[in-house]
Amino acid sequence: MSQKIIYLLQLLICLVGVPTVFTKECYQCNNPANCVSPSVIQCDQSAANRTRDELKLYFLNVPDIVSSNYMCLRTNSTQSNGISTEIRGCIYDETKACNLTLNTAGSHWSRSNCFYCSTNLCNSAPNIAGYRSSVAIIALSVASLLLTNVPGC
Ligand SMILES: *[C@@H]1O[C@H](CO)[C@@H](O)[C@H](O)[C@H]1NC(C)=O
Ligand SMILES: *[C@@H]1O[C@H](CO)[C@@H](O)[C@H](O)[C@H]1NC(C)=O
Ligand SMILES: *[C@@H]1O[C@H](CO)[C@@H](O)[C@H](O)[C@H]1NC(C)=O
Repeated sequence: MSQKIIYLLQLLICLVGVPTVFTKECYQCNNPANCVSPSVIQCDQSAANRTRDELKLYFLNVPDIVSSNYMCLRTNSTQSNGISTEIRGCIYDETKACNLTLNTAGSHWSRSNCFYCSTNLCNSAPNIAGYRSSVAIIALSVASLLLTNVPGC
């Protein structure tokens, strides 16, 4: 490719690609009943803080850190008496939400599943998440490679 074409590509990604890559939407809900039809939210600090505060109800040592990368989280835990909890929403990547310990893990909680992923609305069903997040990571790396030389991008 000639320099000019590369530059035009970079500019195109700068103008069109970046907003769609970096504006993230996730499903949000906080119990099994409202997770049947979760709402769709735009990730920002207050949305990620809200998910973090929900996690604090069930997990130990949830960090109060803030980072600039948002992920979509879905975590679902079940008690031995059949009562379960489900949380979906935006979360900071640095929260490492799937490595948290349940606050009553010693007694009767057992975590059934937890994942986070980085594409829009990827926190619906567990099965597609791995695939979709790796696609997003590739897209992000390509975009950041192409962006490195665009002034003001
Ligand atoms: C949690 O996940 C299990 C297994 O995927 C599922 O059977 C259960 O209904 C889920 N619980 C909630 C509250 O979604
Ligand atoms: C999110 O939480 C952090 C850490 O507690 C806090 O510093 C920040 O002001 C909060 N942001 C919003 C928008 O609530
Ligand atoms: C979670 O913990 C495991 C084992 O300690 C570690 O290998 C893994 O990298 C951690 N994942 C994250 C996202 O921190």
